[in-house]
Amino acid sequence: MEFASIKGFKDILPSEALTWQKLQKEARVILRSFGFQEIMPPLLEVTELFSRSIGEETDIVSKEMYTFTDSKGKSMSLRPEATASLVRAYIQHRLYENNPIQKLFTIGPMFRHERPQKGRFRQFHQIDAEIFGDPGPRSDTEIIALGLRLIEAVGLSGLSLQINSLGCPQCRTGFRNELRAYLFDKKAALCADCRRRADTNPLRVFDCKVEDCKALVSGAPTILDFIDENCRDHFHALQEDLRVLGVSFTVNPMLVRGLDYYNRTTFEIQTDRLGAQNAVLGGGRYDGLSRQLGGPDHPAIGFALGMERLVALLEEQARPETSSPELFMIGLGERAEKKVLQWIYELRRQGVWTEMDYSSKGLKAQMKRADRLSARRVLIVGEDEMASGKAVLRNMAAKTQEDISLENLVQNLKKVIV
Ligand code: HAM
Repeated sequence: MEFASIKGFKDILPSEALTWQKLQKEARVILRSFGFQEIMPPLLEVTELFSRSIGEETDIVSKEMYTFTDSKGKSMSLRPEATASLVRAYIQHRLYENNPIQKLFTIGPMFRHERPQKGRFRQFHQIDAEIFGDPGPRSDTEIIALGLRLIEAVGLSGLSLQINSLGCPQCRTGFRNELRAYLFDKKAALCADCRRRADTNPLRVFDCKVEDCKALVSGAPTILDFIDENCRDHFHALQEDLRVLGVSFTVNPMLVRGLDYYNRTTFEIQTDRLGAQNAVLGGGRYDGLSRQLGGPDHPAIGFALGMERLVALLEEQARPETSSPELFMIGLGERAEKKVLQWIYELRRQGVWTEMDYSSKGLKAQMKRADRLSARRVLIVGEDEMASGKAVLRNMAAKTQEDISLENLVQNLKKVIV
């Protein structure tokens, strides 16, 4: 094969394209119901837009951008994220003049030269949403509720919301000094990047993936001890709103996020099902960015959701339902075999994929078939179980087992399986 796609860049094949279209269609409907309008900025911008907004010291700007010099000698970069471009467009087209609160979204590819792995690509797609013009905390609540709604609408479950406050620049000065002092005599144990960051931008040490650095920062002071009264009130009001909406969340004081423009609220929606790439959605408030890029002093908050990660989780969630039985039942002895047959058909009638062995072979042979089918649970019922009225349900994946009563067995099993 002479040509193949570049490492970290993947084709979305016809078999996958329908899922992508459906997700984007659903997302657009939800975004509109929250009052967001679509904007489509270009993929290429001058490099300085990203270095001045995301920050020179961040991994994204210092290592991961696709940058080249054009024929006029100007440095250009493929966008590694969308927020900087949206702020640029907001300022350039004076979008705030039509309406002081602008809610914008964009969907499209981003480019970062990271090491590809599960859930991490060099070209990936984001659904990015931003609210300009409101200092919060109501817009913080709204943007988080929107992120949760997008994830809930596609049917994903089992994700967790983490929130933090990075305070305002004034709160961070005190924190930065304290952190610098904490890291000062530990520098020898830090990686080369973090040794430099400890002086220049110590908050970035929290993003480091090197195990020794992670262990060291776990004992560091946290920003929440340094935020002032206004920032604390803002953060508490957000938490109060989330409770009103019935949203569960965890306050994670280590959540600093890998971009320099944030202040006050930061948040991530995380999963434990994508290895190291645990964030499906990440965002936060960036009140100073518009002014920093030469625009009006307008506050803003937003997030980006990674579409590849969303699709991967959806596929993973769907797979167990289609590729392996929920339950394999084994009856040993004539009486038990007959009863097991009844239970199996009842469970199937109720939509639970249940399997059995067709012959009356011994336990070992039947277990072998359960294994081959990758059955998620196995229930063995012999004469002893029939007599005692209970059996042992084994969870093959988790390698755990529990007693289950044979009286109303189908109902008991359904409770465990659902
Ligand atoms: P981010 O945390 O860098 O934030 O990226 C947001 C999401 O994009 C991540 O949670 C992840 O799902 C996805 N993502 C990032 N890098 C990759 C990659 N290499 N491969 C696959 N997916 C990836 C931002 O980009 C900010 N602009 C978010 C924001 C908007 N903050 C305020 N407004």
